[in-house]
Amino acid sequence: MTKPISGFSKLTKEEKIDWVTTNYTQNATQSKKILQTYWNENSSIQQLHDEFIENTLTNLYMPLGIAPNFLINETLYAIPMAIEESSVIAAASKAAKFWLKKGGFKAEIIGTEKVGQVHFIFKGEATKLNSFFTYLKPILLAESASLTTSMEKRGGGISDIILRDKTSELEHYFQLHATFQTKDAMGANFINSCLEQFATTLKKEAANYNEFSAIEKEVEVVMSILSNYVPNCTVRAEVSCPVEDLKLSAELTPQHTAEKIIQAIKIAKVEPYRAVTHNKGIMNGIDAVVLATGNDFRAVEAGVHAYACRNGQYSSLTHAEIENGIFKFWIELPLALGTVGGLTNLHPLVKLNLEILQRPSAEELMQIVAVAGLAQNFAAVSSLVTTGIQKGHMKMHLLNILNQLGANENEKTTLVEHFKTNPVTHYGVELQLNTIRK
Ligand code: MEV
Repeated sequence: MTKPISGFSKLTKEEKIDWVTTNYTQNATQSKKILQTYWNENSSIQQLHDEFIENTLTNLYMPLGIAPNFLINETLYAIPMAIEESSVIAAASKAAKFWLKKGGFKAEIIGTEKVGQVHFIFKGEATKLNSFFTYLKPILLAESASLTTSMEKRGGGISDIILRDKTSELEHYFQLHATFQTKDAMGANFINSCLEQFATTLKKEAANYNEFSAIEKEVEVVMSILSNYVPNCTVRAEVSCPVEDLKLSAELTPQHTAEKIIQAIKIAKVEPYRAVTHNKGIMNGIDAVVLATGNDFRAVEAGVHAYACRNGQYSSLTHAEIENGIFKFWIELPLALGTVGGLTNLHPLVKLNLEILQRPSAEELMQIVAVAGLAQNFAAVSSLVTTGIQKGHMKMHLLNILNQLGANENEKTTLVEHFKTNPVTHYGVELQLNTIRK
């Protein structure tokens, strides 16, 4: 049994590695070697990564690929995607190419409003708190002015602050619910700094407000934090084509294909078991671009899934219909993204990926990311309702199987050729590898 350690964060990287490999792995020498293999040979790049987080041991590589041919609002993009799952980038590229010849993707921003809240407890009369808030609001804005100046210069800032009475849900619970515009920044630091200032002002002013009783003066701030639920920071992306152009399968007519896609979306709207997988496929595309551009994929995930159940049941993020012979397929989702600040100015690969995307504004990046999600869903659903997913997926997964089985380069070349015309299964690959080894 390993003993707890104190002062771990003060150890050097080498000492941390020594401690963890000795106490938690079977072969410390080999474990150390693995960790070191993933160090960047450029020591300043490695130091940058070491300093992103705490207690860094090494880097966990994630493949970075590119999906070309995305025509979005008349601009042709090659989209960088960081993802470990085979077939995602192939699927995105296939969908991009399919829609390229049909006018590409159209995307538009619906809103860019971010949210933050000061959650507090007030044990008193709500009407008095309302009057106090009327008095307080200009002071909140004045006392946060030094924090908002530079954001205001960029066209952002605090949009509004309202008082919300939540006492019907939780005794004595109120909020300052603030909305913000953060332009090209994701805005978490800006929002949290403003909120903490609001909290300080709220407590100070309440304590000195003559109309309050002694107990009312003791407002208790529970916490001040941005919300990753951003239902008014949303983007819509769409593709459409005449139904007869939806030629995706030799077995199904375009009309039948369109109807099956629409049916699949309807199922994802009413059946949460399907909706989760349906949206997971969308997030394959979304997260890959969010990661590649140094954005916070956990924030995006949390916000998107909350949005997917905003009407009381978890449901599809995409929609489809046929109207006047036109097949229309679209997505609407919240995305709080930044193209300045955070990792975007620090991580060399993130900077390069943003350059590949033609240095997008946050709004342009929202559109690109939404399109990546829509493309991914189109690829997944159109495979599911035609050939099924495994055929294409297993083909893409073939190299992983061959690597697992220790195939050398010659064996890989031979077997990739063989499986172009044969169904890929783990067992089948193993069998074929043994055959050629004999
Ligand atoms: C796999 O990563 C994603 C899919 O399951 C998505 C879907 O079922 O729509 C293929």
